[in-house]
Amino acid sequence: MASSLLRTSTSALRAATRSAKPVGAAGLAGTSFVRGKATLPDLSYDYGALEPHISGKIMELHHKNHHQTYVNGLNAAVEQIQEAQAKGDMAKAASFAPLLNFHGGGHINHSLFWENLAPSGKGGGGGPEGELAKEIDETFGGFEPLRKKMNAALAGIQGSGWAWLVQDGEKGGLSVITKANQDPVTGSLKPLLGIDAWEHAYYLQYQNRKAEYFDAVWNVVNWETVGKRMS
Ligand SMILES: [Fe+2]
Repeated sequence: MASSLLRTSTSALRAATRSAKPVGAAGLAGTSFVRGKATLPDLSYDYGALEPHISGKIMELHHKNHHQTYVNGLNAAVEQIQEAQAKGDMAKAASFAPLLNFHGGGHINHSLFWENLAPSGKGGGGGPEGELAKEIDETFGGFEPLRKKMNAALAGIQGSGWAWLVQDGEKGGLSVITKANQDPVTGSLKPLLGIDAWEHAYYLQYQNRKAEYFDAVWNVVNWETVGKRMS
């Protein structure tokens, strides 16, 4: 299992590091890597710009501290794997696979999350449009049923994790899935919209009322970005 995790995560990393610019929408959009090292991406809006739906303090801690920790952990894991590989110790290299999955997933997921948010009324909120709206209508019966389905999925996460609206890149079609911890969306599934259900994403503002956060976050969803991720 560990070695398959290693393969999955290292191939994603290779894909990301091949390009000097952020890689396209296949799960790594906006993920920043400079000379093979992961870096914290800048936000296109101020920390306070998503208020009152997500507080500026949460955004600052979430981006500057939590995301930075995933960036640091990813770089440390990659370094340790490379050192072990250089010594031909593949068992040791594989032992870092869970760390690579956790921190690499954390970096990828948060990079996608910042981009699929925007200040309310300035790209955030409203609903899906165009081809995305059509697909959502066909699959879920409309935006409101999708919102309810994702909120139910978010509420059902035990512990920490994410809910994602995904598109199947091979068979086509949309679905809602959840991922535990920082497991990234992989395989043929392409992440379109991710909502962070970790306590660090809401607790400072909403405490135990996480359903209120799940309702509020829709006011700051950047549907243009979500639509562009769909192929
Ligand atoms: Fe988070």
